[in-house]
Amino acid sequence: MDIDEILNQAQTAVDAAVDLRSLDEIRVTYLGKKGELTSLLKGLGRLDPEQRPKVGALINAAKVKFQTTLDARKTLLEQQQLSAAINADAVDITLPGRSPTLGGLHPVTQALHRIEEIFLGAGYEVVAGPEIENDYYNFEALNIPSHHPARAMHDTFYFSDGTLLRTHTSPSQVRTMEQQQPPIRVICPGRVYRRDSDLTHSPMFHQVEGLVIDKGISFADLKGTVIDFLQRFFEKDLQVRFRPSYFPFTEPSAEVDVQCVHCLGDGCRVCSQTGWLEVMGCGLVHPNVLNMSGIDSEVYSGFAFGFGGDRLAMMLYEVDDLRLFFENDVRFLQQFN
Ligand code: FA5
Ligand code: MG
Repeated sequence: MDIDEILNQAQTAVDAAVDLRSLDEIRVTYLGKKGELTSLLKGLGRLDPEQRPKVGALINAAKVKFQTTLDARKTLLEQQQLSAAINADAVDITLPGRSPTLGGLHPVTQALHRIEEIFLGAGYEVVAGPEIENDYYNFEALNIPSHHPARAMHDTFYFSDGTLLRTHTSPSQVRTMEQQQPPIRVICPGRVYRRDSDLTHSPMFHQVEGLVIDKGISFADLKGTVIDFLQRFFEKDLQVRFRPSYFPFTEPSAEVDVQCVHCLGDGCRVCSQTGWLEVMGCGLVHPNVLNMSGIDSEVYSGFAFGFGGDRLAMMLYEVDDLRLFFENDVRFLQQFN
């Protein structure tokens, strides 16, 4: 084949190459060790000696031309590849950004804040007490001596040194009365612990204790306070009833039921068909407790109450299993953000 023909073929092939890999294959086809232009040079030996320089020069000129075409095509393909890569990586600055997801307060925490706000608005002070208590504050000073059967109701977690996880927030009544003189008006929200677990009981739960001590405090003050609080908390005119009950540290004592928020008293699964939900224990502070804490029961009287914060949150948000609050399933918790 004649040189010009080979050169033509080679240049046509180069122009048709669509990427750098096929371009290199074409280079090898013509300029490689066994390439077509290379073979022509190798064949020079078979020519007449006078013809060799002339034909050799022609072949070399063809090689140079081919190389030039090859280089130009290579530059072009490299540029195309680069701009394709740039386009593929391009950032569309008009797209909306990804904002960080915000956390939220736990529904029980939200309910506790709501409770605190209501009592702060009524002139109460918020106090805190230790979660690790001793026998004196959790039982003894609350008129529950060691032989008292009421201790069995508390399912206490004890430590080996005799301290315990408080089973209720009532020890804060004693700690407050030891530190403050009447008039006293406090609430104490916090975690409490019991060996207890089912649909409406969790081994760790929250109580909010309330204590009011002054001259002439009566059961009527307790009733008014509790009813007013519950109506503010639920923002509904729910019926409230006081059932006679027993606590060693109050006399008289009562438990408070609220009309079921789900069925409004008709009876449903949540209230076990009774139409009522128990929310707290309460009563007038027992004279023994006042005296043991250094307050003269001849001069002062007071009331106390203790309710379950988780129970109130359950009712407020219409959640039918208390344990959902403590499983930390984000899909559940996000509904309260
Ligand atoms: C008491 O703990 C008393 N200290 C309340 C009290 C305070 C009475 C001041 C008088 C004066 P009780 O064990 O009933 O009472 O608990 C009070 C509330 O805590 C219950 O009404 C209920 O709402 C809640 N509660 C009790 N056990 C659990 C539990 N395991 N999980 C969640 N909530 C509970
Ligand atoms: Mg009870």
